[in-house]
Amino acid sequence: MTTDTRFPELEQQFIVAGCDRLIAVHWALDIETVDSQSHNDMKFYTGNTARRQEFIVGRILAQRGLVNLKQLPTPIACGIDREPLWPEGVMGSMTHTGKFAAAVVWLPKTGQHPAGIGIDAEQCGRRNPAIWPTVFTTPEIEYLNQQSPLVRDQMATCLFSAKEAVYKAQFPLTRRFIEFEEITLRIPAPTTVDCRTDWLRIEHDIKELDPFHFSVFYYYLGTIVVTGAVALAKSNSLQNGS
Ligand SMILES: CC(C)(COP(=O)(O)OP(=O)(O)OC[C@H]1O[C@@H](n2cnc3c(N)ncnc32)[C@H](O)[C@@H]1OP(=O)(O)O)[C@@H](O)C(=O)NCCC(=O)NCCS
Repeated sequence: MTTDTRFPELEQQFIVAGCDRLIAVHWALDIETVDSQSHNDMKFYTGNTARRQEFIVGRILAQRGLVNLKQLPTPIACGIDREPLWPEGVMGSMTHTGKFAAAVVWLPKTGQHPAGIGIDAEQCGRRNPAIWPTVFTTPEIEYLNQQSPLVRDQMATCLFSAKEAVYKAQFPLTRRFIEFEEITLRIPAPTTVDCRTDWLRIEHDIKELDPFHFSVFYYYLGTIVVTGAVALAKSNSLQNGS
């Protein structure tokens, strides 16, 4: 059973996104390699066996992150909108896709509050162009149509995932549901299949998000794309001179 699940490369991405160093990311390529027998979060869970396992493994990974940050590995309950409820002063996010799972835990500094963080993962090849109009904006579709088939598929997955990461980062701050067409993500050109990681620029017209600056990135792990989003209050960024 695997216990060494820390993911320094992704932690580095979150640090560059503005998280400072009090961040821990854990991941599992195969959730069955994570020992979940003795886990103590069962009481929060209802559902089938596969769902139970991803739910629990996400929490085990998150609790490893809490321990890395010298916090107690307390149970992580669900809020009424399914959002994870973190201990006081902690921000975090979890994701699972297929057998993959990851969790990020962050202790924002006092001056960084309010702040949010999101992580998402998706397997490439599942974003059929037929659904593009329901999840992508016109500029995003134009961008995708200009790419080669391989890049198009990868970047469609990436854009979809990054929107979900943004959603998770902003939700605890605004409690606002966001439709996919309310956000446009811009990819820096030129993008090639060799480009493992990069930043995305966010455009929106959502007043609840206006107080926040978002840093959004993607990171490819073979056929899985992991995306991250960090929301920092613009007023704090200005005070800190960034
Ligand atoms: C909530 C949502 C983002 C989850 O993404 P997903 O790809 O389906 O699933 P993932 O495995 O990546 O993430 C699931 C985890 O997200 C977290 N999550 C769920 N709802 C959340 C919320 N409202 N806020 C923050 N995190 C949330 C939970 O930790 C959940 O895992 P758990 O139930 O085991 O605790 C997605 O189901 C959804 O509702 N999307 C619609 C809104 C949206 O994404 N808009 C995009 C435009 S910005």
